Amino acid sequence: MLQQDVKKVLFSAEDITEKCKALGKQITEDYAARGEVPLLVALLKGSIPFLSELMKYIDLPVELDFMDVSSYDGTESVGEVHVIKDLDRAVKDVNILIVEDIVDTGRTLHSISNLLLYKGAKEVRICTLLDKPERRVVDIDVDYVGFNCPNEFVIGFGLDFNEKYRNLPYIGVLKEELYQ
Ligand code: IMP
Ligand code: MG
Repeated sequence: MLQQDVKKVLFSAEDITEKCKALGKQITEDYAARGEVPLLVALLKGSIPFLSELMKYIDLPVELDFMDVSSYDGTESVGEVHVIKDLDRAVKDVNILIVEDIVDTGRTLHSISNLLLYKGAKEVRICTLLDKPERRVVDIDVDYVGFNCPNEFVIGFGLDFNEKYRNLPYIGVLKEELYQ
């Protein structure tokens, strides 16, 4: 039923699992080599399926925390997000790895990274399942990318359209007639 709204599948559940294994291995090796353990900060709600899959393959004693932010609609401002749910813990001197579903303009992650650094985080790295580099407005360093994503509106595996389709087990393109 949900399937009928999908124009095409871009990344299957199997593709995503394989990618999470590779990313988890890379993250494990990178942090182990430096003798560090990141705090995984997942951005609600879109990153939840990705976090759940990815963390199984990170072989380090990581801790989890969650943030929910919204950007101020209709402004071109950078560095401004509205924090709806803040982290439970302090981040002073902590190595943070942000886990995000997709980087689009880069505004959200630019703002959150600055906020966390301002609060005294030792380092902020970024791991995103999808990246739309063509859409970038703010230059940010993305440390770990699952897939480069074509410039189309995608849904599934956490990504929503009007809060729906997050529960699709794969990532697909929504039929245009549904958002026009
Ligand atoms: P940015 O600040 O423009 O990088 O915004 C990133 C946020 O926009 C993501 O966390 C998503 O919530 C949302 N987003 C961007 N592109 C898509 C898409 O194709 N499908 C669903 N959500 C998207
Ligand atoms: Mg998001």
